[in-house]
Amino acid sequence: MNPLVKQLNETIQQQNPHVFDMLSPLGKAIYFPKEGILSQSAEAKSKAKAYNATIGIALENGQPMHLKVIQDTLSAYAPKDLYEYAPPAGKPELRKAWRSKMIVENPSLAGKGFGNPVVTNALTHGLSIVADLFAGPGDAVIYPDKNWENYELTFGIRRGAELVNFPLYNESVQFNAEGLKEAILAQRDKGKAIVVLNFPNNPTGYTPTAEEGYEIVAALLAGAEAGINIVAVTDDAYFSLFFEGSLTESLFGQLAGLHPRILPVKVDGATKEEYVWGFRVGFITFASESEAMLNALEQKTTGIIRATISSGPHPSQTFVLQALQSPDFEAQRLEKFQIMKARANRVKELLDSSKFEGAWTYYPFNSGYFMCLKLSTVDAETLRVHLLNQYGIGTIALGSTDLRVAFSCIEQEHLEDLFNKIHQGVQDLEQVAATK
Ligand SMILES: Cc1ncc(COP(=O)(O)O)c(C=O)c1O
Repeated sequence: MNPLVKQLNETIQQQNPHVFDMLSPLGKAIYFPKEGILSQSAEAKSKAKAYNATIGIALENGQPMHLKVIQDTLSAYAPKDLYEYAPPAGKPELRKAWRSKMIVENPSLAGKGFGNPVVTNALTHGLSIVADLFAGPGDAVIYPDKNWENYELTFGIRRGAELVNFPLYNESVQFNAEGLKEAILAQRDKGKAIVVLNFPNNPTGYTPTAEEGYEIVAALLAGAEAGINIVAVTDDAYFSLFFEGSLTESLFGQLAGLHPRILPVKVDGATKEEYVWGFRVGFITFASESEAMLNALEQKTTGIIRATISSGPHPSQTFVLQALQSPDFEAQRLEKFQIMKARANRVKELLDSSKFEGAWTYYPFNSGYFMCLKLSTVDAETLRVHLLNQYGIGTIALGSTDLRVAFSCIEQEHLEDLFNKIHQGVQDLEQVAATK
């Protein structure tokens, strides 16, 4: 066994054996090589004052070699912030800036131990790192029945984990913390569970209230107290878009330091929050009171990155860092928040007027990019296709009753027309059914 991985595993064992038990076979085997090309070139970067002939980039006139056709369109940025490889764990200044933002936006993190965010190639990559490190064949990955479909590929297909769903809402149409708790406690025999908490939720646009938040935390705690090791992943893709009556923090804060059998992992990023979907900048952050543990988990995470993409794109890390440091950042973000909130409010206003009665109900929503209709009379996929062909309207059908509408993509003044046409589509199909 490589001495580095032996050392990392011993550290994790010593600091918290439950966390060691949470690791997948790959998670146990991975490490970040200290004595390879990267460390030698890092050493050379500070010491090789005459000639640095270490890493596989090209230099010219003391800066990264580059083509004018590219630099001309990016002239606001220095070549060193664009063309060089970013470190595998990400640009240090960006990691620091994201951590500071996290503390400001999540007051419940005050006084808690959590690591330095490691930069990922956006959230999908962060989730895939979680899967690599913790999910093995047959491990239970628990999340609600209304979810982002990609979890199935990331955890199920790619790592062979068993996907365990529970109904997102209970009978009072509130978050079904009891269902979550049952799903966790059902893993007693395995002694391990990975729980994915995604709020604001895709596809429903739901974020729990503060009270429901406590119930979720209590459900995880009950699992830990029953002897189940829990990797508690918060997928905070739509973080900060909280419009009314919900938690406004990630549950990562409350979960940090809660129980030795709970390992909180925060997956977040600039993608949806900062409206930079194609930039591919995300983060993965662990919580632990032990610095040695945080360091070991960071090394393993960086090992996975080195083994898969080697490092994330540098230009987009620079763009996001520049935005975070800009004095205009907060004001501009607030402006976009207000637009999104106004759209959500308008959708609610339209749906709460009685004009669509009988056609559908809707799942409670208070945050994020989406809302979901629950169709009463027609099949969701049939309606989706009809809306597309007849009215040129694109929606997402989920199962037989649910239709997801991304109000994030529709200007406020067009929302009424959109829902009128969806309603018309329902009526068309009802009529066809009646004449059959
Ligand atoms: C809940 C959720 N998590 C993660 C992602 C992936 O985000 P990214 O584009 O940053 O990989 C999405 C994207 O749709 C999402 O809806």
